[in-house]
Amino acid sequence: MTKKQRSWERRLAAQPDALTVDYVESLSYDTRLYKYDIVGSIAHAGMLAEQKLITRAEFKAIKSGLIEISEEIEAGRFSFDKVCEDIHMAIEAALIKKIGEPGEKLHTARSRNDQVATDVRLWLRDEIEALQGKIGLLQEALVVLAERHAEDLMPAYTHLQRAQPIVIGAYVLSFAEQLERDSRRLGNCRQLLNVSPLGSGAIAGSTLPIDRENTARQLGFADVAYNSIDAVSDRDFCAEFIFDCSLLGAHLSRLAEDWILFSSNEFDFIRIDDAFCTSSSMMPQKRNPDVLELMRGKTGSLYGALMAMLTILKGQPSGYNRDLQEDKIHLFGAADTTRASLDMTRAVVSHTAFKTEHIAAGLRQGFLDATALAEYLVRKGVPFRKAHGVVGALVTLCEKQGLELSQLSLQTFKEHAPAVESDVYECLGAANVVRHYVSHGAAGPQQTKRQIAYWKKHLAQR
Ligand code: ARG
Repeated sequence: MTKKQRSWERRLAAQPDALTVDYVESLSYDTRLYKYDIVGSIAHAGMLAEQKLITRAEFKAIKSGLIEISEEIEAGRFSFDKVCEDIHMAIEAALIKKIGEPGEKLHTARSRNDQVATDVRLWLRDEIEALQGKIGLLQEALVVLAERHAEDLMPAYTHLQRAQPIVIGAYVLSFAEQLERDSRRLGNCRQLLNVSPLGSGAIAGSTLPIDRENTARQLGFADVAYNSIDAVSDRDFCAEFIFDCSLLGAHLSRLAEDWILFSSNEFDFIRIDDAFCTSSSMMPQKRNPDVLELMRGKTGSLYGALMAMLTILKGQPSGYNRDLQEDKIHLFGAADTTRASLDMTRAVVSHTAFKTEHIAAGLRQGFLDATALAEYLVRKGVPFRKAHGVVGALVTLCEKQGLELSQLSLQTFKEHAPAVESDVYECLGAANVVRHYVSHGAAGPQQTKRQIAYWKKHLAQR
């Protein structure tokens, strides 16, 4: 591109230094906005024509020129020149080259400041929908896994110590819940960002009689941004989106952490299919859960993007500053990482088997039925705090004698708590405990089946 083509820089006496060109360009990462840039420009030109700021013929020339450029980019025939700085100038320069003077009218009453703010919002609207789709697919995979194990038992942990027995399905569905909040949070973000900055110009709007409601309507925005100064510099939605990705990442990372532990010899609860494991360059016996470790690690990168985005925003004076160009690096990075991790998690969830028999065989350890025994005593009229103490003493006794609670004699029970009767044995042992869960949302088979039915209906409605 020659100096003349950098028509926006007549003001400057010299060509930009090569270092400057490299330093200020964003074309190397913002080309993915091209479709949105073109759609936004066509809407803007259409409005300019309706407002008689350009002729119908000029609008037609602009529109067909932009469509041709879009096709060229799509087909890989477009030559990008970083001297153009960014996708917005690259497209405008190509349009002017293609159609001449009408192309020079496209930027009427518009700045790159409102243009890029518009493009990013349009892009993010679609990106959020795509991510919500991927969340839904992962939830479906979780529901399939939960249904397979709606009655199979596992220990639940608090403080990573054995706590109470649950069904595997309930554990699996806990992630479907987390993901549902992620999906809704993203939906909220989409709703908040869906206002049009277009027509705010560089910072103060325009002296030309543009119609911002017109372009907002054409582009599917729910409203126009009300203050031009805010509109060109607002990137709240970028920070919010990256936060949503970060929290989603935290959820995936916790699943990853569980399954890394579960796949170890020490737990041996699950087997992840070979296609989703890696081996060691030195130790020939290894099957490593690298995929899950990377998922955990990539969540760290998401947090980094969030911190970067917030930091970019904090020190800027009002209005647009070029600092804001850096938003896209972190925004796109967060979106790409989140997409990839959602796909990967779905694949792992779909190709992991719980070793139900092995897990069941280990359920006798850890006094998983202790809380249920205390609740049995409550049903017999013993105050909970007393019942808690009685069961604590019984567990200590069992530990000394190498017994489980269900192996204690009725006489021993009665010595500690006279209210105990022979029906006590019906509430002991993991299988009995989960059958007796009655509270809404509990981790037993009935509640899990109810949740599965809900998820199937809910996910099908999407
Ligand atoms: N590529 C820039 C960005 O992403 C476009 C805006 C440049 N505006 C300006 N006044 N220099 O923010």
